[in-house]
Amino acid sequence: MTAAPQVYEVEEGQGDDPIQEAELWHALETTFSSPSYRPPKLPQVAVELLALSGKRNVEVAELVHLLERDSLLATRVVTRSNAPGLGATSPVRSLKAAVVRLGLAELRDLVMEESLGTRVFRAPGYQDALERVRLHSVATAHLARLVATATPFEGDYAFLCGLLHDVGYSTALVALAEGASAGRKPGTPATPLRPVTLLWPALAQVHERVAAHLAPEWKLTDEVRLVIQSHHVLELGGVVHPVAAVVALAEVLASELGFGLVPAATDVPVGLHPFTIDLPGERQRMQALDALRVDARALARLRAEAPARLTAAGLVPAVKAKAG
Ligand SMILES: [Fe+2]
Ligand SMILES: [Fe+2]
Repeated sequence: MTAAPQVYEVEEGQGDDPIQEAELWHALETTFSSPSYRPPKLPQVAVELLALSGKRNVEVAELVHLLERDSLLATRVVTRSNAPGLGATSPVRSLKAAVVRLGLAELRDLVMEESLGTRVFRAPGYQDALERVRLHSVATAHLARLVATATPFEGDYAFLCGLLHDVGYSTALVALAEGASAGRKPGTPATPLRPVTLLWPALAQVHERVAAHLAPEWKLTDEVRLVIQSHHVLELGGVVHPVAAVVALAEVLASELGFGLVPAATDVPVGLHPFTIDLPGERQRMQALDALRVDARALARLRAEAPARLTAAGLVPAVKAKAG
């Protein structure tokens, strides 16, 4: 079980000034355009599974064969297929039975959640911040799957879009840490990394653009790419994208339960305040509710069910759900 961290951010203007968007984007573009830059890598099995999940009529044997190449992921798939909530009447022991029980979409989601949990984003100095992004993303993914059940729209990609929607923050933090170490001359002390508290506002401005650097590398489908590159705007071609709206609503619920990107604190010390970075504004909330045709009653049901979804996912809701 993972408790949501309680985080307090220094008031803007206290100490050093936050980095500006243009300066941050310049630093990132310099790193991205360097010949030595390599985007964060997904395990190969996850990349191939993502590609397969966009196809029809994928054979179980093909999936088993793919998973057998990564024993760690294969073990996790068997374990998770026995989790409560999947309606199992008898325990699954073989990889083939686990694949059949989960189905392709759930298998893809599970492998992606496992892959992003431990292996992809590493950056000494920013590990706590990366963990915060991960917790926020996992909570949003599970709640997006819940929100999708309350809408008339196809929710096949809701979990994946929730899981990946803020991947731009993680990619940027890793690139900044790598950029700092790459610029270091041999024998000289390491340049201290800029405190992450001074990065959040500008990261929020650029994280959707940064995600574009991963989409081709990870072979993301067009729908996932569109959502992660525009989840704050919500509108594509003048129409609210339903999965982007699902993600926005899931983020609101995640934040209410202590899993905002920078969680709201309940006992803020004097001089500090909770920082609401990345949270959809009132306009986006209303747009999302309207587009998804989620009324007050449906929202109340989602709020009531959300804590149990997080608990089942191994997360501990930090705040009790509000009624209504
Ligand atoms: Fe987010
Ligand atoms: Fe975001």
